[in-house]
Amino acid sequence: MILTLIGYRGSGKSTIAPLLAQALGWEWLDADVVLEARAGRSIREIFAESGEAEFRRLERQGICEHLQRSKLVLATGGGAILNPDTRREMRAAGPVVWLKADAETLHTRITADHTTAERRPQLTATGGAAEISHLLAVREPLYRETASIVIETRGLTAAQIAEEILSRLPADFS
Ligand code: S3P
Repeated sequence: MILTLIGYRGSGKSTIAPLLAQALGWEWLDADVVLEARAGRSIREIFAESGEAEFRRLERQGICEHLQRSKLVLATGGGAILNPDTRREMRAAGPVVWLKADAETLHTRITADHTTAERRPQLTATGGAAEISHLLAVREPLYRETASIVIETRGLTAAQIAEEILSRLPADFS
């Protein structure tokens, strides 16, 4: 069984994953961190040197591999749900939690994160708040379709979000 976290950049996936793992006595990993370590390049460098399509190929390959494990909390990149096979495989592996936040909240969090400039490639020509609104409109149906649990994160602390997720896991979850 895998507990997968999905959601836009800045939705809190990598913050919440270790809290869940600790509560469950499971391991956790951030798929993008593993990908960067394996590639020996940052995601920003992979986008710049090899293009987004190559990044998406590596992303899918890594996630498929992680989904074969068990008792793992998996934090995924914001665009991991763009691939229909990945969406299906995430759902088949266990609960999928969407950490939902509105565009304004995400923009505030992303700009406050000092690793943004170094790690996060711009995904559209506009960047900034317009990019978030545009991509959220495209992706929200995909996050919704993939998720078995949706958490409205606005106004909640990380601990409260983790608690809410744990309380909503299916009864037969292990
Ligand atoms: C992306 C989100 C990033 C990373 C890559 C692409 C996206 O992950 O996978 O920069 O398409 O939204 P985070 O959601 O962890 O920032």
